[in-house]
Amino acid sequence: MSTLPRIVRTASLAAGLAALVTVAMPATQATSTAAGFNPGVIAAYSIAAPASEAASRLIARAVIPRGAACPNIVVRVSGRSTPDEVVMYGRNLPDSTAPAFESITVCSARIPDKAISASIMGHPIPAHLPTRVGSLALFSDTGCRIKPPHLQDCADLNSWPLASIAESIVEEQPDAVVFAGDFFYREAPCPAEVQNWCGSSPPPVAGLPFKDSAYGWIAEVLLPMAPLLSTAPLIIARGNHEACNRGGNGYFLLFDPRRDTTAACAPIAGPAGLTAPETTPTATYTVDLPITADRTLRLAIVDTAGGADTFSDAFAPIQRPSFEAAANLTTPRDGVENWLITHRPVFGYASPLMDGPPVPFDPWVGADSQTAASFGLLDHFDLVFSSHIHIGQAVQIPGQPGQLILGNGGTLLDPLTGYPLPTTGPTDTAGQAYPPPVSAWIAPRFGYAIARPNAQAGSWRIDMKDPSGHQFARCGVANRQIFCRDLPR
Ligand SMILES: [Fe+2]
Ligand SMILES: [Fe+2]
Repeated sequence: MSTLPRIVRTASLAAGLAALVTVAMPATQATSTAAGFNPGVIAAYSIAAPASEAASRLIARAVIPRGAACPNIVVRVSGRSTPDEVVMYGRNLPDSTAPAFESITVCSARIPDKAISASIMGHPIPAHLPTRVGSLALFSDTGCRIKPPHLQDCADLNSWPLASIAESIVEEQPDAVVFAGDFFYREAPCPAEVQNWCGSSPPPVAGLPFKDSAYGWIAEVLLPMAPLLSTAPLIIARGNHEACNRGGNGYFLLFDPRRDTTAACAPIAGPAGLTAPETTPTATYTVDLPITADRTLRLAIVDTAGGADTFSDAFAPIQRPSFEAAANLTTPRDGVENWLITHRPVFGYASPLMDGPPVPFDPWVGADSQTAASFGLLDHFDLVFSSHIHIGQAVQIPGQPGQLILGNGGTLLDPLTGYPLPTTGPTDTAGQAYPPPVSAWIAPRFGYAIARPNAQAGSWRIDMKDPSGHQFARCGVANRQIFCRDLPR
């Protein structure tokens, strides 16, 4: 454990960036500052990207205090005797977004193809996508919810266990981390009556039509996930909490892998002042992860930040091209198995004990937007990995890919009971319907998963673990079916 990065939780985010950088620093480096580590890096990480962005399919990011110059990446490339220095550029900060993010600069650069190692100001970052996948970490829905009436204690690791989950994933040393969305939940000032839970939480910036900020993302993601961010390449889908009127501006600045996307959620000036633009899907792309010489996992990343859950939704025609692209990008090929990564589940169901369920209650979350948008387009997929429902869940609809949901990465859990197997399948308002599910597994507890390929093509073992790393359930994926069982306590 002594060589693993360590997070020391701080009582006051208002103490300033210097304090944040200090507490987020890996333990081995925190003690070596005098020897040359530059504490100017608030966070550094590598994100999987579309082919149009980098031949290596990997983008490096560094978050630094505003006013500092973007550092270079020191990269060792296969076949070269000396390291290369790659210049990072600062991602553009739109004027209408700037008041919330002017305390930081987000630097970005392509990681060269065939890179062996990479570091930014002494801070190692993943230098390449895995050449052979032995394990993948899966988790999602991680932010601390402080939007009344739903609150959790952001100062208590039992109530908000994200930092524990991040540390446990680091100990697993996965080859890549797949995150299915919903980073940002600090959408309101901390209420006066629970200052001991979230009194130092950065509130939304007044006068702006969105909820996030640089300090909000530091508290919500960059600090608690610090050791995880630089452990393995990140493969990220956008959640609805990264919609343009919520946490979208920080998402595009920090975690969208593409160039020139930082204005995608920038407020628009009009007669009534600034307004948030509509949330529309970004382009679908794929990430290939080799498993063996003749076997590859292809992930299709679909942006489902927009739309709605359970009511009639005109968003489906806007969303459908995302799923059409995912189908086109996963045309069956020998040796390639495909997973769909999309925040809103296609086959996920909620508990009627949720606040304000629609009447009559339709348990299928997203049926009107996601079912309609993806109907008939899922035949290429072996598995759908999603989030959005704040529990662990696995659902099997006959003839469809297994659906795995991990919305249990730290955000306040949904109801712990009330998940009987639905007797009908998801049906959209146009009458398109799937058959009823034949099985489901429910895990109303915090955690993450480690997925490992079995020897047979298309077959995976997925271990479900609690924040401390203790395994509590095991899932198997084979022949497009998912099945999970709890382990004895
Ligand atoms: Fe969520
Ligand atoms: Fe969500």
